[in-house]
Amino acid sequence: SWPKRVLSGIQPTGTLHLGNYFGAVEKWKHLQDKADGDVILSIVDLHSITFPQVPQHVLLGWVLGSLTTMARLYHFPQYKEKSESLKDIPLGLFVYPVLQAADILLYKSTHVPVGEDQVQHLHLAQHLVHAFNNKYGVTFPIPEYLVEAQSGAGRIKSLKEPGRKMSKSHPDQKSRIEITDSPDEIRSKIKKALTDFTSEVEYDPENRPGVSNLIDIHSLATNKNRTDIVREAAGLDTGQYKLVVAEAVIAKLAPIRAELMKLLDSKEYLDNVLAEGSAKAETIAAKTWEEVSRKIGF
Ligand code: ADP
Ligand code: NA
Repeated sequence: SWPKRVLSGIQPTGTLHLGNYFGAVEKWKHLQDKADGDVILSIVDLHSITFPQVPQHVLLGWVLGSLTTMARLYHFPQYKEKSESLKDIPLGLFVYPVLQAADILLYKSTHVPVGEDQVQHLHLAQHLVHAFNNKYGVTFPIPEYLVEAQSGAGRIKSLKEPGRKMSKSHPDQKSRIEITDSPDEIRSKIKKALTDFTSEVEYDPENRPGVSNLIDIHSLATNKNRTDIVREAAGLDTGQYKLVVAEAVIAKLAPIRAELMKLLDSKEYLDNVLAEGSAKAETIAAKTWEEVSRKIGF
């Protein structure tokens, strides 16, 4: 059996927002606190600037590319969606899932917390493990979903278009609460969040996605369940309820924001954390790559 190793990452495409915090960062903290196995957290800048930091990612990506087919990659929803709006499709967009599989395999990751939108990507990684192990001998564990990290309220939605997820790469900053937002900014964004013409506070994501999203955010910020939240909001209209949600979010983010500001002032400390982390990562990556290149006869 393989030593437990959880791998997760985030793209450096903007400032963290509430969705990133509740959907990823807070879960990573729980995983780290549990201290059962290694937790490798990465900034996946390779995918956003397509330039290697730890070069073994690209090398392994190349090897894995020869173990899958273009037909398989054409069917990835992310590729289909993004390529439809482009006149010229970058090769990087097409091979992205293979690089992502290389990220996972390079660290012999056993567990990967993924959202629903990433399930197909993890399937590709699993398929590539089978293909590699069959051809060259058992080298990689089959990466599994980390189910516990997926549970919860699901996706936090955009404050402006509750049909879409809150995203740090969306051009409208008012569509998200960033963890660096001041209390006034938080109040203003939540006050202007899109709701509907019904004033009652009720949880109905299907028909009333705007107010339901606020209830989800409120629930995550306070650890109260939705039923209690809705009960306590009886008698408030959505406008009044927004003020309650804003104060809950402000209270939740206050210590996080303070810590973040402190860290942003400690550049040397941060550079050290990154340097130590990438040295550890590189040790594992170099070892795996050495094994892979030996097996494939490079
Ligand atoms: P973004 O779309 O904001 O750029 P990323 O794609 O970099 O976010 O995702 C980083 C992490 O944050 C992933 O684990 C992802 O599942 C989580 N995440 C992103 N957006 C949301 C959201 N709206 N709700 C919950 N989790 C989210
Ligand atoms: Na993104």
